[in-house]
Amino acid sequence: MLRRLSPIQPDSFEFTPENLEWARAQMTKYPEGRQQSAIIPILWRAQEQEGWLSRPALEYCADLLDMPHVRALEVATFYYMFQLQPVGSVANIMICGTTSCMICGAEDLIDVCKRRIAPTPHTLSEDGKFSWEEVECLGACANAPMIQIGKDYYEDLTAERLEALIDAFSDGQVPLPGPQNGRFASEPADGLTSLTDCEGSDANASVALARELNDTIRRIDGSEVPILTKWLDRDRPEASADDQTGEDTVPEVEPRPANGAPPDKTGVTEQEAQADSPARPRSPREPAGVRAEATDVPEEAGEDGDAETRDRDAETRDRGDDEE
Ligand code: FES
Repeated sequence: MLRRLSPIQPDSFEFTPENLEWARAQMTKYPEGRQQSAIIPILWRAQEQEGWLSRPALEYCADLLDMPHVRALEVATFYYMFQLQPVGSVANIMICGTTSCMICGAEDLIDVCKRRIAPTPHTLSEDGKFSWEEVECLGACANAPMIQIGKDYYEDLTAERLEALIDAFSDGQVPLPGPQNGRFASEPADGLTSLTDCEGSDANASVALARELNDTIRRIDGSEVPILTKWLDRDRPEASADDQTGEDTVPEVEPRPANGAPPDKTGVTEQEAQADSPARPRSPREPAGVRAEATDVPEEAGEDGDAETRDRDAETRDRGDDEE
């Protein structure tokens, strides 16, 4: 499918102050001069804020990263997850149409969307609240057929249940995500066959998180969670207080393999081992000059080693002559 920018464009775009702070923090994850590597997360945050990527949003993100506008456009048009058309103000319904979901009834769900929202994908409903699209496997095949709305999955769906979901969203409610047929997660439909004595909570982990954050269809403005930039605090322990608890959580010493105990008598960890350490194996086939660079090899050991190597080479040559 050809992916183009929408003919309908807003006049401008800018991040909320919190999202801008978040975006600048992402840029510091990359080495100096490589800030353009942050293009995907920054475009994604722009989409989370507005629901889709307009031309002003693309250009704003490109300017933020000091890169040509066309580079940002290339990224946005390559990845289908970026929405280049306006989406429903309440929800863009992404219906998985891949094998498991298709076998289990994805076409019925698409029919519902065609009837309730718009006959074609990427088209707004009459009230502007909804849009829909068919997407590739969303990785919840054991709960087919399923859809994604905002950040969450609604699974084990039927056409009737999807209609009920659309009604609820339309009324301003946010139905609980997860399996819609009473299953806890992806256990067998007729009940557990093992671990039957395990006491669990009333919702699986992703449903519980969705319930806690309550951000299923929320437009993200950056105020939802604290901005954590621990990597910036490594050199400034005084500024490393945990953003949520006020507690200093940056360790004074980096954790080391084997709990700090050296792995051998050389006293260096594997991460620190140099190519020319005493543990380096020697080979008679090394290019000329390489061995001379191994400055940390004791002289006597080197001489003995050379003598042994010469003896071995002579032996090998003699054997080769005999065989011929
Ligand atoms: S086939 Fe639909 S989630 Fe995998």
